[in-house]
Amino acid sequence: MTTHDFNDRMLSLGLARVSEAAALASARLIGRGDEKAADQAAVNAMRDQLNILDIAGTVVIGEGERDEAPMLYIGEQVGTGEGPQVDIALDPLEGTTLTAKDMPNALTVIAMGPRGSMLHAPDVYMDKLAIGPGYRDGVVTMDMTPSQRVNALAAAKGCSTEDITVCVLERPRHQDLIAEIRTTGAAIRLITDGDVAGVIHCAEAAITGIDMYMGSGGAPEGVLAAAALKCMGGQMFGRLTFRNDDERGRAEKAGITNLDRVYTRDDMVTQDVIFAATGVTDGSILSGIRREVGYLTAETILMRSKTGSVRRMTYRNPT
Ligand code: FBP
Repeated sequence: MTTHDFNDRMLSLGLARVSEAAALASARLIGRGDEKAADQAAVNAMRDQLNILDIAGTVVIGEGERDEAPMLYIGEQVGTGEGPQVDIALDPLEGTTLTAKDMPNALTVIAMGPRGSMLHAPDVYMDKLAIGPGYRDGVVTMDMTPSQRVNALAAAKGCSTEDITVCVLERPRHQDLIAEIRTTGAAIRLITDGDVAGVIHCAEAAITGIDMYMGSGGAPEGVLAAAALKCMGGQMFGRLTFRNDDERGRAEKAGITNLDRVYTRDDMVTQDVIFAATGVTDGSILSGIRREVGYLTAETILMRSKTGSVRRMTYRNPT
């Protein structure tokens, strides 16, 4: 092994620090009604921490195209350059509105893998479907209707459809999806934002009460969620959706030729990765930042797909 191999075990603690730093930086902006300031604070801190890691990193999922985002843009080189060539997918603040309004499940999120390990998803929507671990492959598919998926999952789980809970982003575009799921008797956990957390919830169904995730959200967030599920177990499928030629152009620019392709979890994340997320506001998977006089405390989940290890860490930091 050369020193420049992707040493996921050693790099993982550094990744947790990156995620923690972003969450701590956005802490003073929780509940202050300023999404942009909260995002900027997280971006700055994440970038500063990434730049002290001994990696030759390339941001493949980031804050946007270079002309749209001055920092952590797609293609930005991060790290000291002294280390393995890695690809990085990140969302310094997943749930900017949740943070600004102090609503649940805002996270900072980052995944890292060897060069070429993650889909370069364009900034378009992705139709997503996810379930947790323990089911046979293909028990639910993108070809099924939403009600067929609920029925298939209930049969596989050995329960009634009424015992299934599906998580869906509350958006007008999901009106028909929600109506169809309701015909099965399944419960729906509507979330206002934050579908990375929405998908991750499926991997810990016993704790979160969520069995399945359905609906469209950001494609970059889809790749981040696939990285998390690759570590925790569970199935995920995604299909890019396009509203206009500009969006199709973004996909082509990202090197995507088959615009109708259904990506599995392992198509989106093709090699072993590490993943870290830190709670900003309280949620079902992570506590948010705790404030006390003189201290901030952050909870981070750190995972490696190679081993399937899931580590939770609490960091109390003097301010
Ligand atoms: P931001 O934190 O960047 O605002 O994204 C939040 C989010 O809810 C994502 O989790 C989700 O994938 C996407 O926005 C959904 O997009 P839209 O709000 O356009 O439906």
